[in-house]
Amino acid sequence: MAQRIALITGAGKRIGAATASLLMENGWFVFIHVRNSIAEAGQLCSDFEHKNGSKAPAEIIQADLNNDADIDALLHAVSQHEMVVKNGGLHALIHNASIYSSEGYESVSLETLRLNNRVHLEVPFLLTQGLLPQLKSAKGCVIGMVDTSLGRAWKGLSHYTASKAGLRQLMLNLAGELAPDVRVNCVAPGAIIAAEWESEHFASVVEKIPLGRAGEPLDVARAIQFLLESNYISGQTINVDGGWSVSP
Ligand SMILES: NC(=O)c1ccc[n+]([C@@H]2O[C@H](COP(=O)([O-])OP(=O)(O)OC[C@H]3O[C@@H](n4cnc5c(N)ncnc54)[C@H](OP(=O)(O)O)[C@@H]3O)[C@@H](O)[C@H]2O)c1
Repeated sequence: MAQRIALITGAGKRIGAATASLLMENGWFVFIHVRNSIAEAGQLCSDFEHKNGSKAPAEIIQADLNNDADIDALLHAVSQHEMVVKNGGLHALIHNASIYSSEGYESVSLETLRLNNRVHLEVPFLLTQGLLPQLKSAKGCVIGMVDTSLGRAWKGLSHYTASKAGLRQLMLNLAGELAPDVRVNCVAPGAIIAAEWESEHFASVVEKIPLGRAGEPLDVARAIQFLLESNYISGQTINVDGGWSVSP
């Protein structure tokens, strides 16, 4: 049987790394995309090797997703890779790379908005389009990593929430347009790991979560794995948020 192949963007640490580990443990070959977290991605592979006594089924690929030449090189490296060619294409593309900063609407710059749109919306658009032949031939699944912000107002996050809403709509649209060859879904984490700037008020966020705790990266990774293996689910978003999105 062909080995399943996944590309996860921004997978050197945190949620992306947990997803890469879970997929490797379950027999997938994973392209671990990083920008700066090369050492962390290397450690992820070493950890796998220590635990399993075999080489990690992975390749680390470095690319700045805000650089057109890097995107072209990433597309080339994945689409021409012998594992992709040998195993009938790309079975999963997970748009996980993200930026997250807070700044009031009155002062946030157009440059910041453009960077958020670039990483969260343009890059998933370009990577999905560029890898479509490989996704189609493997009957693959695309997952957009969004969040639970949709439909609510958030102070200081207009640039972030608007770009993630764009990603969510892009994924929904592609679920219709790429069917029946490719399934497309979203995973929406709630409070999983704080960014450095929000660590002080993270506890007050967690107080609002019905399940009474922050999530673990593995909670999110399991939802991703579920969607990858659910051949009759497309166009859906799974909230992994301890009930946060339905609490009053
Ligand atoms: N953490 C949470 O609690 C939470 C909550 C809601 C939603 N989410 C969503 O879940 C996903 C994973 O969350 P996370 O907190 O683990 O993500 P993260 O740490 O904020 O970002 C993941 C990776 O994105 C990469 N990245 C950023 N800009 C890049 C660029 N220009 N080029 C290439 N890579 C770039 C970075 O890679 P390098 O380190 O290699 O530079 C970073 O490690 C994200 O899409 C996020 O929006 C997370």
